[in-house]
Amino acid sequence: MIGDGSPQPAGQVHDQLAGRGGWRELVASQQPDWPDAGTLAAVTAELAGLPPLVFAGECDLLSERLAAVTRGEAILLQGGDCAETFAGATAGSVRAKLQTLLQMAVVLTYGASVPVVKIGRLAGQFAKPRSRPTEVRDGVELPAYRGDAVNGLEFSVRARTPDPGRLLRAYHCSAVTLNLCRAFTTGGYADLRQVHAWNQDFVADSPAGQRYERLAGEIDRALSFMRACGADPAELRSVELYSSHEALLLDYEQALTRIDSRTGRSYDTSAHFLWIGERTRDLPGAHVEFARAISNPVGVKVGPGTTPADLLDLIRALNPARAAGRLTLITRMGAGRIREVLPSLVQAVAADGAPVAWVCDPMHGNTYEAPSGYKTRHFDDVLDELGGFFEVHRRLGTHPGGIHIEFTGDNVTECVGGSHEISSGDLHQRYETACDPRLNRSQALDLAFTVAESYPRPRG
Ligand code: PEP
Ligand code: CO
Repeated sequence: MIGDGSPQPAGQVHDQLAGRGGWRELVASQQPDWPDAGTLAAVTAELAGLPPLVFAGECDLLSERLAAVTRGEAILLQGGDCAETFAGATAGSVRAKLQTLLQMAVVLTYGASVPVVKIGRLAGQFAKPRSRPTEVRDGVELPAYRGDAVNGLEFSVRARTPDPGRLLRAYHCSAVTLNLCRAFTTGGYADLRQVHAWNQDFVADSPAGQRYERLAGEIDRALSFMRACGADPAELRSVELYSSHEALLLDYEQALTRIDSRTGRSYDTSAHFLWIGERTRDLPGAHVEFARAISNPVGVKVGPGTTPADLLDLIRALNPARAAGRLTLITRMGAGRIREVLPSLVQAVAADGAPVAWVCDPMHGNTYEAPSGYKTRHFDDVLDELGGFFEVHRRLGTHPGGIHIEFTGDNVTECVGGSHEISSGDLHQRYETACDPRLNRSQALDLAFTVAESYPRPRG
């Protein structure tokens, strides 16, 4: 029983969903070569007996929120690390990410004057698809790093050997992170009256921070005005935040999938929102089949090689009931391709009438290797892809539903450009990501201001 939050029988859906006709009969790409099937089975059995991380009712509420995005009445802000790490599940690191997300959300809500649905790429984003199964350094070949849920980043046989025990740690780190998020967002910290406090350790030396400070001043005045009028709505005192990650490791996701006693439907209780990555969205494939069987809102990454026919097939598979809020399409085309590729996809979906939320991931199509060897992204390319996304939707009369980005709350140097102008020679200073380069806090805020300006001004 998960609808009301009480514990449910272990392992039930674990076997049921994985049974005949389920994803286990299809090819599951990007799965680790676990050295020992027995240990994996013991771990997934243990996971199946652990409490859900999220509840079905919360997932349904998120579907409603995303339905509003689909109808053009709200926008989605989804973001966080490319790959969370176990070491990063600390109060300081989670708070910094939340601060950044809250600041971005304020900028977007104020600028675009529509509700902003907030989903963190956090509390479960521990597994990564890789373009190559192995990595070679100085003639030594080892399994590629697939995220902390699978193996360690350090380049040694010991660290790189997949260890199913890590799935349990991923669960526990997700629980700790989600608990912190729930406490921060409902325990007073996310109160809009804290709008200045989120900026405190940041404002002095940053153009983005100063710009934010001015906006926070305007919000303050608006709040004082409301209070003077006798209005003090509860909505301003907490924030609705949802968790998400790529549903990549199907044994893990399956073990956390439970039947909701209210409705008899299955939910993956590892996160509110799950997405299928660009590398695993093949049809028929195990990842799409897994996503079909759960009732959470789901997303699918849509890269530049996607044809309108592919996309319509995916939409039919993932949302046969054509329910608004169920399916979010996260396009990641690259700045150089989006204006050419996106229009025919949007037109095909519009002609079909399928309700989807269109969201732009301006990160994954714009990754390149700097001369120094660091994997990076140029902030201008990120903005350019966003610009293309808005142009296409404006031209076709469809709703640009929001953004999906990789950022961190720390002052890292992983993406070049931005108002603090990080050059490729600066990348070594604080290059800390376990996988793809993330926007730092000022770049993330810069981006939020640009996105906010891309929405039409509300008529007063
Ligand atoms: C990601 O979001 O980190 C990712 C791997 O994206 P994509 O599947 O779009 O390449
Ligand atoms: Co990434």
